[in-house]
Amino acid sequence: PIPLLIDTDPGVDDALALLMAFDDPAHRVVGLTVSAGNVGLEHTVANALKLCEVAGRADVPVFAGCAAPLLHPAPDAAEVHGRDGFGDVGYVPAARAAQDEHAALAILRLSHEHAGRLVLVALGPLTNLALALSLDPGLPRRIARLVVMGGAVTARGNVTSAAEFNIHFDPEAARIVFRAFPRFDLADWEATVAHGLPHAEAEGWLAADTPQARFYEAISRRTRRWSADRRGDRWYLADPLAMAWALEPEGAAELAERPVEVCLEHGPARGATVVDWNRQLGVPDNARILLRYDQARFEARARVALAAEGGL
Ligand code: BDR
Ligand code: CA
Repeated sequence: PIPLLIDTDPGVDDALALLMAFDDPAHRVVGLTVSAGNVGLEHTVANALKLCEVAGRADVPVFAGCAAPLLHPAPDAAEVHGRDGFGDVGYVPAARAAQDEHAALAILRLSHEHAGRLVLVALGPLTNLALALSLDPGLPRRIARLVVMGGAVTARGNVTSAAEFNIHFDPEAARIVFRAFPRFDLADWEATVAHGLPHAEAEGWLAADTPQARFYEAISRRTRRWSADRRGDRWYLADPLAMAWALEPEGAAELAERPVEVCLEHGPARGATVVDWNRQLGVPDNARILLRYDQARFEARARVALAAEGGL
């Protein structure tokens, strides 16, 4: 199987992406590196550990990383994901703790152990990855593929018009990553919106009689209600879409290769992912942007992940 390393800030939609990854026989999850993002690091780490336990994957090492963005204090998305990031259902914490190794060091070590084969999927702010790059700028050469969930490629973001949450949370980190990787795959917020899942359908999958589905039904209840109230009949699942693309690249129906840069300036454009659509800057393309993905494949992966046999 292809080694897969997931950098994440769980987060309700991260959790479904993780279940999808655990469920894929063609990939082996070699670790979860965790950062602050949707909520604080103590919660995102506890949530990652719990999710592994629920999925029967307590063998997957979890590494705690950065508790705040590189240069400024952390905002959070508790309004969407609950104060604990998992819908405040009061779950019993996982039996084990995170590894002692810092997430940034784990990224570097695993990139050596799986040099040339490792697929890295970034589902949260890019702080851990930026730190790893600062320690070792040679990292991109050892990564087979980097898939990032982040950005808003035509300025229809979810935090501001210009910016999407993961990039807005730590724009400096995103700029470091976007400049360091000669090529990476970007699944942005606008792709998320274009591939919403009908709530009615998702509710059917959540009724599956498996530990994953029961747990996911509970932790996602609050965010599903929030999403239905605010956004209508479709549930926007950013991280699962990025994960579907990471696991099954053949599902991509339309891609655009362009240069993408992150705006750092304070003000309305902070955290914007500026795409040089007309290639006016004369700089090389660095991103492959996901415009359209096979909706049926995406939905099938989400459904199957919830129906899989778990460990509890
Ligand atoms: C991204 O931000 C987080 O809230 C989600 O987990 C996803 O990674 C969407 O903007
Ligand atoms: Ca996330």
